[in-house]
Amino acid sequence: MDLFTPFDCRDVTARNRVMVSPMCQYSCEDEDGLATDWHLVHLGSRAAGGAGIVMSEATAVTPRGRISPKDLGIWSDDHADALAPVTEFIAEQGATSAIQLAHAGRKASTNRPGDGGGPVHGDRGWTPVGPTTEPWPHDEPLSTERLDAADIERITEAFTEAAVRAVDAGFDIVELHAAHGYLLHEFLSPVTNTREDDYGGSFENRTRFLREVVVSVREAIPEGTPLFVRISATDWLPDRESWTVDDSTRLAAELRPLGVDLIDVSAGAIHPDQQVPDTGPHYQVPYAEQVAESGVPVGTVGKITTPEGADEIIRNGRAALAIVGREHLRDPYFALHAAESLGYELPVPRQYTRGFQ
Ligand SMILES: Cc1cc2nc3c(=O)[nH]c(=O)nc-3n(C[C@H](O)[C@H](O)[C@H](O)COP(=O)(O)O)c2cc1C
Repeated sequence: MDLFTPFDCRDVTARNRVMVSPMCQYSCEDEDGLATDWHLVHLGSRAAGGAGIVMSEATAVTPRGRISPKDLGIWSDDHADALAPVTEFIAEQGATSAIQLAHAGRKASTNRPGDGGGPVHGDRGWTPVGPTTEPWPHDEPLSTERLDAADIERITEAFTEAAVRAVDAGFDIVELHAAHGYLLHEFLSPVTNTREDDYGGSFENRTRFLREVVVSVREAIPEGTPLFVRISATDWLPDRESWTVDDSTRLAAELRPLGVDLIDVSAGAIHPDQQVPDTGPHYQVPYAEQVAESGVPVGTVGKITTPEGADEIIRNGRAALAIVGREHLRDPYFALHAAESLGYELPVPRQYTRGFQ
């Protein structure tokens, strides 16, 4: 097994084990969540660049679930129609397409990083929702609405409808975003979830919302479509009651029988007080290895920047997928270059073969 061993999952075979990590592009022109030429060119060029799986950015299942006004969405059929050319192009390049379905929860209505971050107040902004009314601690926090059980059911339905639309738009893999302090993570973590109803308190209650979304999405999408879940393995808040790697391992074991095929293991971002450890190369691989003890296949992400490093992770069975984020912003042809330098068969687009002879 190595980086260029195909990845088989249900009815999908990805040509190699390099996955483009989901990365927000903040590029919807009219703040309407519709994919633009940017999304086609950005995701399409990573597919032409040889990646096995090309994952979309966090794609909002409701308008209030966007992080920033310019985030991608999939809350209507028009959104799916706008994404269909993207999946078609990715498939033409021999790559596998994946979509990350997301709800930003209390971190919604935020300016994109290039605009300084911080909350979007006024007409362009909206009221975020969360497990409680406790807002994300911006300097000038937005008032935040606590979801009741009926709201939770509606958002579960929104994830489900979005997943069906995504499959109709041609996506091969569906991933649920339950990491980075967004809505599903906010329910998992005792840092943000202090509810006293069926959705708060015990581990079972805090994981209920995610489990309900998983069950509902799994039932609605085809049997052959893989379902991934991205989690933050740890909240990086060791000094208070928080979500830990042990919790993640237990969660993974519980998600497997519900039809989850892979846990995409990231970390952090539930609270600005987090204590991020040394973020050297591959710093999150040990979390993935621990989560894999659950018996569920894992993907690992975080400072994977070299072909040799990505290959080592797969060869040594440390993860099933090497998920590459920022290096793909620097080099859309990361996988192609990896194949070239490691001596594997090149996934070169026909049009580019003369450049590699
Ligand atoms: C510009 C940018 C946007 C990101 N957007 C998302 C996102 O939409 N969903 C997500 O789960 N992670 C997102 N992330 C985190 C990355 O997917 C990845 O986990 C992180 O950058 C660490 O991997 P890397 O060191 O390979 O970049 C984003 C990161 C960057 C740099």
